[in-house]
Amino acid sequence: MSTQSIIAALNERINTYLFEQQSPQDINSKVVNFKSPSELSQLIDFKVSSDAVSEEDFIQMIDQYLEYSVNTGHKQFFNQLYSGFNLPAFIGEIVTIATNTSMYTYEVAPVASLIEVEMIKLMNGYTGYAEGDGLFVTGGSNANLIALFTARNTLLKDCSEQGYDRREKLRLFVNETAHYSFDTAANLLGLGMESITKVKADENGKMLVSDLELKIAESIERGEKPFFVAATCATTVMGSYDPIDEIADICQQHKLWLHADGSFGGSALLSHKNRHLMCGIEKTDSFAWNPHKLMNIPLVCSALLLKNSGLLQQNITGINTDYIFHENESSDLEHFQDLGKKSIQCGRRVDAVKLWFAWKYFGLDGYEQRIDNLIDMAAYAESKVHSISELEMVRPRQSFTVCFRAIPAGESQSVTNINDYNRKLRETLIKTGNVIVNYAFIDEILTIRLVTANAELSKSDIDQFFNYICDAIELIQSKK
Ligand SMILES: Cc1ncc(COP(=O)(O)O)c(C=O)c1O
Repeated sequence: MSTQSIIAALNERINTYLFEQQSPQDINSKVVNFKSPSELSQLIDFKVSSDAVSEEDFIQMIDQYLEYSVNTGHKQFFNQLYSGFNLPAFIGEIVTIATNTSMYTYEVAPVASLIEVEMIKLMNGYTGYAEGDGLFVTGGSNANLIALFTARNTLLKDCSEQGYDRREKLRLFVNETAHYSFDTAANLLGLGMESITKVKADENGKMLVSDLELKIAESIERGEKPFFVAATCATTVMGSYDPIDEIADICQQHKLWLHADGSFGGSALLSHKNRHLMCGIEKTDSFAWNPHKLMNIPLVCSALLLKNSGLLQQNITGINTDYIFHENESSDLEHFQDLGKKSIQCGRRVDAVKLWFAWKYFGLDGYEQRIDNLIDMAAYAESKVHSISELEMVRPRQSFTVCFRAIPAGESQSVTNINDYNRKLRETLIKTGNVIVNYAFIDEILTIRLVTANAELSKSDIDQFFNYICDAIELIQSKK
C-alpha cells in the first residue's frame, strides 16, 4: 500500500464529506444513512483476518465508515449536547494526532503543555478563579469524579493513604435531575450511591434552595457529615441552571465544597448577555467545563477547574514515578511542573490544542457571538413550537434545549398515547435520515429535546427542522 495514494484518497473523501456537512439545504445531504445492526453487519466486513487487506479494500473501509456513520456536524443533527464541525479545532486535532504524544511531561509535549496551561488560565479568567488551577480530563463525568475525589481528600486528609472507612458518614447533594455521573463517582469513590441526596427542583428544573437547606439540616441531625454540593449549569434535559449564588451562601455557612457541573452549559460564561445564568460561579471550589459541547470542539475536550491550586497534586502519588517525572533532578533545563503530576491518568491525550486553535481562530469576541447565537436559535425554535398548532412546549425553555411534543389530533389524550405518538414521530424522522433529535422524560412525559449546540445554526436550519417535523406528522396521520 502506498502512503501517498491512501492520504490522497482520504483527502478527497474528507473534502466531500465536509462539503456535504456544510450544505444542509441540499435535500440529498443526509444526517444518517440509518441501518439496523444486522443490515450493517451484512454491508461491512467487520472481521479482522490473517491476511492484510488490499489498498482498494482499505480505501473502501474509509468509504463505508463515512457512509454509515452519523454525520454529527450536519446542521440537522440535534440529538446530543455536542454537534457541529469546527474547522480550526479539526485542524488542531489533526496536528495533534500527527505528532501523537502524551501530556504527562514537558519533555514529550513542550508546546502542548504550554498551551494547556494557557487554556486553563483563560478558562479560569472566565470563572473568576484568580489563583486557579485545572487540567484537561476525559469528559464531564470524569471532571465530576475528580472534583468529588479532590473534595473528599481535602476533607479527610489521610484518605489517600488509609482509604475511606465510613467512620464519617459523608453526604453530598445534587439536583434531582443532575447527571448520572455523580452516582458513578460516589460508587467509584466508595462513598456509595446512597450517600447522595437528590434535592428537589422547581418547575423550571432549578435546585430548590429551601429543600437543600432542609436536607442538609436533616443530614446533620442524623449524625452525618455533609461535605459536597453540586450545582448544575445546565441540566441535561431541560437546560436549567441552579442558582449558584444562593447555594454558595449555604455552602459557606456549612463549610461545604461547592462544585459547579457546567459540562453542558458552562460555556454560557463566554457571553456577557448570558453569563448571569451562572451568577456566583467565582464562589465555587471547582467547575467542570466541556468545550466539546457548546464550543463545538471535537470530543473529547473537557476541563476541571479548581479555585485553589495544589489540590490536584495531593491526589497523586509521588512513589515510583521517577522513571517518568525528572523535575527534581539537578539539571540545566529550565523548570516546568509537569502536568502529569496532577492527573489520575498516566498517558493523557492532547485535548487543549484543538481548543487553542479554535479560540485563536474565532477570537474571544467570535466565541461570544457563537454562544449568543446558540441561545438565539433556541429562542427561535421555541417560538416555532408556539406557532405550530400540533406542537406544545413541555416546559418553558431555560437555555439551549427546547423540550416539546406533538399532540395527536382526534386520538386519546392519555399520557401513554401521546408518549407513544412522539416516540413514533422521532423514529419516523430518523428513518428518513434527514434529521436526528433525541427524546427524554420530564416526569412521565416523553419530550422531544431539541438542542441548539451547533454554533453555525441559522434560522433556516431551524425552519427546516420544523418542516421535517410537520412532514413526519402528516406521514403518520396519512397511514391511519
Ligand atoms: C449536566 C451534565 N453533566 C455531565 C455530563 C457528562 O459529560 P461527558 O459526556 O463529557 O462525560 C453531561 C453529559 O451530557 C451533562 O449533561
